[in-house]
This record gives sequence, C-alpha cells and structure tokens, in this order.
Amino acid sequence: MLNQSKTVGLPVSRIDGPLKVTGQARYAAEHFGPGMLYGHVVSATIATGRIRAIHTAAAEHFPGVVKIYTHDNRPKTAYRDSRWKDAVALPGHPFRPLENDRVLFDGQPVAFVVAESPEAARDAAGLVQIEYLSEEPHTDIVAQRHESYEPPVPRMKQFMPPPPRGDAEAAFAAAAHRVSADYVLSGEHHNPMELFASTVLLGTDGALTIHDKTQGSQNSCDYICGVFSLDPGKVVVKNSFVGGAFGQALRPKHQLFFAVMASLDLNRSMKVEMTRQDMFYLTWRPSCIQTVSLAADAEGHLQAVMHHAVHATSRHEDYQENVANWSGLAYKCENVKISYEIAKLDLATPGDMRAPGAATGMTALEAAMDELAYAAGIDPLELRIRNFVHRDQNQDKAITSKALHACYREGAARFGWAERSAAPRSMREGDDLVGWGMAGGIWEAMMSKGEAKVRLSVDGSVTVSAAASDIGTGTYTILGQLAAEAFDCPVDAVSVEIGASDLPKTGVEGGSWTAATTGSAVQAAAKAVIKTLLTHAQSMENSPLKEAKVQQVEIAEGRLVLESNHQIGVSMVDILEAAGLEAIEEHAKVGPDMLTMMRYASYSHSAVFVEVKVDEELGIVRVTRVVSAIGAGRILNPKTARSQILGGIVMGIGMALHEEGMIDHRTGRIMNHNLAEYHVPAHADIRDIEVIFVEEDDDMASPIGVKGLGEIGIVGVAAAVSNAVFHATGKRIRTLPITVDKIL
Ligand code: MOS
Repeated sequence: MLNQSKTVGLPVSRIDGPLKVTGQARYAAEHFGPGMLYGHVVSATIATGRIRAIHTAAAEHFPGVVKIYTHDNRPKTAYRDSRWKDAVALPGHPFRPLENDRVLFDGQPVAFVVAESPEAARDAAGLVQIEYLSEEPHTDIVAQRHESYEPPVPRMKQFMPPPPRGDAEAAFAAAAHRVSADYVLSGEHHNPMELFASTVLLGTDGALTIHDKTQGSQNSCDYICGVFSLDPGKVVVKNSFVGGAFGQALRPKHQLFFAVMASLDLNRSMKVEMTRQDMFYLTWRPSCIQTVSLAADAEGHLQAVMHHAVHATSRHEDYQENVANWSGLAYKCENVKISYEIAKLDLATPGDMRAPGAATGMTALEAAMDELAYAAGIDPLELRIRNFVHRDQNQDKAITSKALHACYREGAARFGWAERSAAPRSMREGDDLVGWGMAGGIWEAMMSKGEAKVRLSVDGSVTVSAAASDIGTGTYTILGQLAAEAFDCPVDAVSVEIGASDLPKTGVEGGSWTAATTGSAVQAAAKAVIKTLLTHAQSMENSPLKEAKVQQVEIAEGRLVLESNHQIGVSMVDILEAAGLEAIEEHAKVGPDMLTMMRYASYSHSAVFVEVKVDEELGIVRVTRVVSAIGAGRILNPKTARSQILGGIVMGIGMALHEEGMIDHRTGRIMNHNLAEYHVPAHADIRDIEVIFVEEDDDMASPIGVKGLGEIGIVGVAAAVSNAVFHATGKRIRTLPITVDKIL
C-alpha cells in the first residue's frame, strides 16, 4: 500500500497497466456491435493529377461487398471548408475525402469499400480499378527549397520569427570564429503501435458512440458533428485507451469520416481500420533544410546567430511549426536574424510529431554549436555555459525557471564528460572509434484551458473525470495521484474517468500540456470539494471547525482537519451523513494565468550526453550510452516521467540514425510501407539510457508546478548523437539520418 499522505512524487505504477497487459483495455478497433460492417480505403497510386475513371464493377460483385463509395456517388455531405476545421486545423483548405476527382498526394483515399467482413472489404478494394491523368510531382524539399514562402496566415503568432536584433551579418563578418552550414532532415513518419481506427456503434434514436484513435475525443466529436450536421448531444466519441500517437492523432483522420459517413448512409454500425501502409501516407514530420550561421569572439561568446529554415507543407494546407525561433533564445546573443519559410510539395499535409519544430530546429542549432566549439577550440559544454542566458531574448521576458546549469552539471558528472579527450578520433575501444557528444534541449512549458470534475462519495471513494486522453503518457495515473493526495487516500481508491467527449471539457492531448492543465483542474476541483465539505462541517452542531478558513484545513486519514492540528476535525463520512448527502461533486475550470504570461516565458530544458561506438570498417554506429538531465519543474511520478523521457530519447536516436521517409521523386510516391522498410530503433539499437530529473521549483509555470514531459526528451538528442559521431570519426554529417553510406 502506498504511503497515504504522499502519493504525488512517488513512482506509482500505471493504474491502467493491468488492463493493458491483460488485454482488457480495448482500443478503437476492438469494439463490436450487432450487424457491424467493415470498410477499407482505396488509396491513390499517383502523387498528383486527376481521376479519369473508377471501375468498381468487379469489386461490387465480390461476395460480401455492400457498397463502394467514390467521389461520383458519395453522400451529399457538406463539403464547405468551415465544417472541416478541427481544433488544431491549419491555415488552408482541410482535406475532404472523395470531394472531387483531384489527387493531391500519394496514398490519398480515392474510394471506400464497405463489406460484411474486413477481409472482404480489403480483397474487394484490390479489385477497384482507377484510371488517372497523372501530373508531374514535386516532392523533394531540396529541389523545392527556393519555391518557399513565408506563411501568409500564421498558425500561431509565436511560430513567426522574432524581429531581428542588432546586425547579425556585420557581427558575423567581424567575429573571430565562424561556422555556417546547411542541415537537412529527412521527413519522418509517426508509427505508433495502434493503427488509425474508428468504430461507430449505432444506438437508438440516431445516437452514435464512436471509438476513435485520437488525441482528443472532443475534437473528433466536434469535427464529425460539423461535417455531418449531427446533434452534438447524440454523439459520444471515446478514446479510453490510445496505443501511442506522438502527434499523429491530434487531427481527425479520414477513417473517422468514412466510418461515420457509411454508418449514417447504410444505417449500420461500422468499423474502419487503416493499414500500416496507410500510416505512412497520412502525416509526417516535414522534411526540412536549415542554414545555421554562428559566430563567436575569441573567448567563445556568441556574436551572431542566423538561422533560416524551410520545411515542407502540402498543396492544400500551410503546416507550420516553430523550427528556428529557439536559436534566438537558447543562448545569449545580441545579433540575431531568424527566418522561416515553407514550401509546397505534392504530399499529404505534414503534422505535429513529438516536439514539432524544436526537435528539428534544435538539431541544427546544437550541431552548429558543436561545430563552433571545435572552431573556437572550446569544450562543447563549456561553450554553452559561457553563453548561458536567463531571459527569453526573443520576447524580452523573464523565464519562470531554468535549471539548465544543474542539467549541465549533473548530466556531465553522471556521464563522466570531464574524461573526454577533445580531439576527434582520439578515443578508441578495440576496433571501435568512440565518440562523446552533447547537446541542449528546450521545449515550451504550456498550460491550456481545461476542466475537471471530482466526486467524493460517502464510502470514501473518489472519482475524477475530464475528457483528457492518455496516449501512453500516464495521464490516468497522475490524475489519480493528484486526487489521492488531495483526499489523503490510496491511489486505488480513486477512479479516473477520461477518454470520452461527454466528460468535462479538455483540449487535445499534445504540446506536453496535459499534466499542467488537467492536473491543475483536478487539484482545483478537489479543493472545491474540500471547501464544500467545510461548509457542511461548519453547519454541524458543535463543529470544531466553526471558525476554520478553507486555507487552514486539509484531509487526513478520512477526516477534515486543521492543518496545524490534526486532532481537531470531523470525519468526512460524518459530514456527508449529517448533510444527508451520498457524495459531493465539484467542477473546476483552469487556464493559464494571463498576468504571468505577459511577464514571463516558461520552458523545460535538457542537457543530453551521448556515447557512440563506430565500427570503422562497417560504418555501423551504436549509441552505447545516453545520459539526459531534465529540468521540467515538479515531477509528479518519476516512473511515468522517466518513461516519457526514455521514449523521447529512443525517438531522438531514431531521428539521428534510422528514421527516413523515402520518396521516389520521379513518381512522388512514398517508398516505405511498413516497419521493415522504415527502421525505428529496436531493442538491439538501444543500450544504457539514464534519466536525471534536476530539482526545479516553479510555481508560475502551472498551479501544480509541472512543466510537462512528453516532448522535451527528444529535443537535442539527434544533435548529441551526430556530435558524438563527429567526435568519433572526424566526419561531420549534416544530413540525417546518419546511415552507413554516409559514414563510409
Ligand atoms: Mo504532440 S506532437 O503535441 O502530440
């Protein structure tokens, strides 16, 4: 049994873990209903052009096929843009499946087959014949980099570059040490275990229960109600369990549209699950080219920072992320010029993927910092320490907290950085070259608006509810811990209800803001319950708490007591019974503090140290050791927190060495179709990883002091790996991933 008075901060195992490992947790495709039909999507085999004809006769005659939808016979759904804007939609025209004969990207859904079994739907989909009028595709960011433009409509104001400071070009020209290079990052594909899937269950009176693979049940619900003009009171979207997402499931995907479309048209329950191949077509971390120029004086103080980034977007939407602005705030520098553009490619719209923008931009900046360290003859860690800054220079704001010095110190000590010999190719072990590299990471600490409900029952049980999602991050567990702490009860006395659109309003799970937002909402609702308890306690006869203020009481061992003297108090059961109540339920709403936000910026930070061993003959790189020191405010649960950072580091190793979205630019077609053709780090690729959380008190980042952990773990990792590869081999590889051919 857990210590009752202190659950927050303890390494509590996931409360949803047993359900997951015993197969009781059901994912979006694992729900069934009577008379269910199954759909399969037919994907375009060209990247751009038009559909001349679709021949469906053979597929229609396939046993079990119920109906085949194309742009010629689709139901008359509203196809106006405005209806297709989800909560995280982008500037531009949202993709609308089967809208017309136009093909905008490889793998675009162009027909939809419904059958009595998933096998029949899939087989029949293979019989649909499509004639195309193909046009010349443009899918190479390197070739299109000069067709780039500044996004005319910013997705977010803070994604736009800050105004230039000083005179970066002149300072660069005059500086003692200069580096300038292009860094190229391949497109990457999110590959969570769970495929996109939607199961639509028909209820009575046209009510729909939809199990959707999404990072936001309410976003999916609002979207589907908008697209199909449905009564929001009659639709519930559930995402009780999400088998990974990484940003891919922030926006509703077309399987949701198809499942609902066919269900409404045929009046049957429906299930649509995508294939692994489809996952590669749909969304991706955009390929990106960055030019970073850094200059320093003889002592290594930065004199100029210039960062220009161009990444891909689709023909129809202007995807944007904050790639380059980090370079204006990571280190102290008075001469800064940042520019940011996007370029249209004939591919699906890119999407947010773990630390979108920062993972890309910090990879280039932190590799450039390593190059500058060598140019100036200064240790890479020392160079960063010399350029430490306490202010957000882009916005000219103070920072709520920045324990990055502690990250440097504790990370370096744990790694043994002081033992490093500076020269490239100077460390060996047997036949292997050994390289040590490091980098820093930044991610914005965000909190959004959110709500939660907390219910305390007369039997002592507590229920927490909010429409939050747990995408593998540990949301269930930390919300349970926060409630357990407030009511001084064991975590298993708390039921956590999340993952349904009819629960208290919560944004999508992304941006690392869920713990800060929903966690704060749960704490606020719990406090409201305690306040109500006190009011009832005070109306009891001879109440010992008559004069007590709400700030002076807390719950201890089932009693509402004075903080200063636990002897004085009343049992919660007695309070509820005296008031004639079965339970007390309170609802709370939280949001970022606007005054604080005007004066402060808030970030989480990391310092990551990497050892690689490179087999010189074979060109194989192994990441043998990683130490990542993280400053992210209060750690609610070191176990789930560590898992988040481990996952981020593994993904960063993937970015550095393995993950490469491959496109045949002649046809504009995506060449990776599965996890055999797109390598993500497997167990054999991962050795020792150590995570350190440095002490960081921050009462401004969020009411519960947390900054979020979902994304900071990946930021800087790819740079640290490539810096280590340089240290090992003397070869600076600026195009990721660093594959064998580039080493040799
Ligand atoms: Mo995250 S890329 O905001 O799900």
